[in-house]
Amino acid sequence: MCSQKIIIGRRDLLFILTGAGVSAESGIPTFRGVNGLWNNFRIEELANPAAWARDPELVWKFYSYRRRTAAPCRPNPAHLALAEVERQLGERYFLCTQNVDDLHERAGSRRLVHMHGELFKSRCESCDREPFDDHSEYESQSAIPRCHCGGKIRPHICWFGEVPFEMDRIYYELERCTVFGVIGTSGVVYPAAGFIHAVNQRRGIPVRSFYVGPEPPANASSFTQTFVGNAGNVLPDAIFCE
Ligand code: OAD
Repeated sequence: MCSQKIIIGRRDLLFILTGAGVSAESGIPTFRGVNGLWNNFRIEELANPAAWARDPELVWKFYSYRRRTAAPCRPNPAHLALAEVERQLGERYFLCTQNVDDLHERAGSRRLVHMHGELFKSRCESCDREPFDDHSEYESQSAIPRCHCGGKIRPHICWFGEVPFEMDRIYYELERCTVFGVIGTSGVVYPAAGFIHAVNQRRGIPVRSFYVGPEPPANASSFTQTFVGNAGNVLPDAIFCE
């Protein structure tokens, strides 16, 4: 049980940012925790356009592994609690996730954007064909499919050095929210790590902010409230909608 509460008033607009920690209790390892390395590679070494240009087979092996391990995972009480808050707040709720898994959707969340892309979608590296649903695993160079334009099919992921998705929508929601909550992110990867500074520096509408996670993030001092604990333990009791 969590004794502290975050009260969402009848006129509040809630912006939630989630990171890998929200899916940790579902069995998906965080990036910078134990088991965060894949075959001794750090995420930054594989998730970038240069790695794709040099060795697309290695990059697809990594994302195939991530598809394989994420597919059987199930939403945990934190995902479910957030979906319930969305059900109560409707259009006064907005979820921005850095996660590429689909556990928020599978818990029932609908008003969300995946700023770093989606693990179970692929797209063409060359043309502007729409990203499409794809659960396949590609383990060799010859298995990597080609688009009708000739380009290779790549994961629909925002890699280091690329621009995250839906930034206009995200900044619109950051401008208008009155409560800003962050769950399970280490606060070291930008632009998401800077959202708390963006809302704190806004003029006009005051904002309340909170962080939920087992340890304080790099930007901890910027939050109004911090809940130390696992998201699945803290969230179901912490948010109260009037
Ligand atoms: P990190 O692995 O950097 O941080 C995970 C955070 O979750 C840490 O602060 C943990 O303390 C916290 N955590 C662990 N277990 C938790 C739990 N049960 N409940 C709540 N919090 C918990 O992951 P991110 O900050 O999400 O980008 O990483 C940001 C980005 O870096 C990712 O989206 C990914 C990566 O490179 C791309 O792939 C582009």
